[in-house]
Amino acid sequence: MNRVLLLIALLIQARSYSQQPYYQERFRPQFHYSSQKNWINDPNGLIYHNGEYHLFYQHNPFANFWGHMSWGHAVSSDLVYWKQLPVALREENEVMVFSGSVVTDPKNKTGFGQKKGEVSMVAIYTGHDSLLQTQNLAYSLDNGKSWGRYSGNPVLDLQMKDFRDPNVFWHEPTKRWIMAVAMPNEKMISFYSSFSLKQWTFESDFGPYADTSGVWECPDLVEVPIVGEPNKKKWVLMVSQNATTQYFVGEFDGSKFYNENPQNKIMRPDYGADYYAAVSYKTTPDKQPTSIGWVNNWGYANEVPTNPWKGAMALPRKLSVKKAGNEWVLVQEPIKALRRLRSTAQVLKNSVPVKYKHVLPFKGNCFEMEFDLRPSTTSVSGMKIAVGGNRYFTIGYDATLEQLYIDRSNTPSGFSKQYPFYHTKNAYLKTVNDLIHLRVFFDKSIVEVYANNGELVFTTQVFPEEKDTGIEFFSDGNISVFENVWFWPMKSIWK
Ligand code: FRU
Repeated sequence: MNRVLLLIALLIQARSYSQQPYYQERFRPQFHYSSQKNWINDPNGLIYHNGEYHLFYQHNPFANFWGHMSWGHAVSSDLVYWKQLPVALREENEVMVFSGSVVTDPKNKTGFGQKKGEVSMVAIYTGHDSLLQTQNLAYSLDNGKSWGRYSGNPVLDLQMKDFRDPNVFWHEPTKRWIMAVAMPNEKMISFYSSFSLKQWTFESDFGPYADTSGVWECPDLVEVPIVGEPNKKKWVLMVSQNATTQYFVGEFDGSKFYNENPQNKIMRPDYGADYYAAVSYKTTPDKQPTSIGWVNNWGYANEVPTNPWKGAMALPRKLSVKKAGNEWVLVQEPIKALRRLRSTAQVLKNSVPVKYKHVLPFKGNCFEMEFDLRPSTTSVSGMKIAVGGNRYFTIGYDATLEQLYIDRSNTPSGFSKQYPFYHTKNAYLKTVNDLIHLRVFFDKSIVEVYANNGELVFTTQVFPEEKDTGIEFFSDGNISVFENVWFWPMKSIWK
């Protein structure tokens, strides 16, 4: 072999060595985004631009735990298949790049565009050092591939140690940008406005309301359609606090957010243990905002037993709201494009009445399942997945309490002291025509449950034994009926 050929052969081999092992590890999600290696947390800078969905995220480029925060980067044309790109923004001079957002500047109001018609992408992020958090700009003139810092940084500095996570968007009615930014310790979200992204004017504060148990972080303010009335819209304000996320629904007039839900009622986009820092693509080709959250929990995030990566992104969800009594409820449906990942369906032709236990004829740890549960009026019934020996994960409905719940207490948990504190989670849910409709996604170590067409969602991590792939229906002695049962093994997005 001549030298050139040898070199090519070696390069091909090196490449296949470097690619091959990733995404085949134990617990590795197959249809949720995770970084090839190392730590990730919050999604950042979600933006659709020139036919691509950009996903930036909090990332430690050097290790599999939190630190040296930088912005990792991936792109997708459909929000299903992702391509990981080089790190976009790195920690510099010991100032970390904390969470933030990205906008485009088609009218070149920032002056970052150099040539006529050049559209810059502008990142608005929190610069963090041990004493101070400030809001800063970086920009890209090549569709997000390379980034430069604005020389006039910071653009917003209150001389505060905790002041972070700017969520910026273009507000067409007032023709300016709006920033929602967290005052974590005050448990408030502040709103600012700007015509240039470089100077900001204070508009108003919102909070503290509802869940004030932890610091407020990672706001997302987004206008979403009302179910059944796509031309009418409401504003949703999402806020994360420690280990959970809450939302408010109402109006935003370009200056102030007006909550139209009962002021102190806690409304959650996700009742699971592992859903945090969700933010949205506010402008999408189908005009329906789509949000992504981080699947992890600060209570034990650094301890989860996954290597060489930690952290993943939840499935992208289409957002809308609907009125239930005097409350606006967030409705979240996984994007339709995910259906492309379904392998041949396995369907149960008949309804299945269950008194105690019914073992299903299919198994797996990477699947989607959909069914209706007709619970008897006083029963506790549902489904067990990741079944093996006396280990299993439960998704159940308590008809007396009218509660849907998830429970991972019968799965391995020895890796962390904190993890068991979040084992069971429940939320109020009423039947519709005596049925609970469930869509369940199980992806190796992530379970997402969507109930009654997205009215209630649970996202939770679970770390089963590899051989625990059984699936069962159960009831507590009262007969509950399982109808329209569909099961799809899911294809990997990494092959
Ligand atoms: C939320 C958060 C943000 C911060 C980032 C740092 O998970 O604490 O408030 O910007 O993580 O990684």
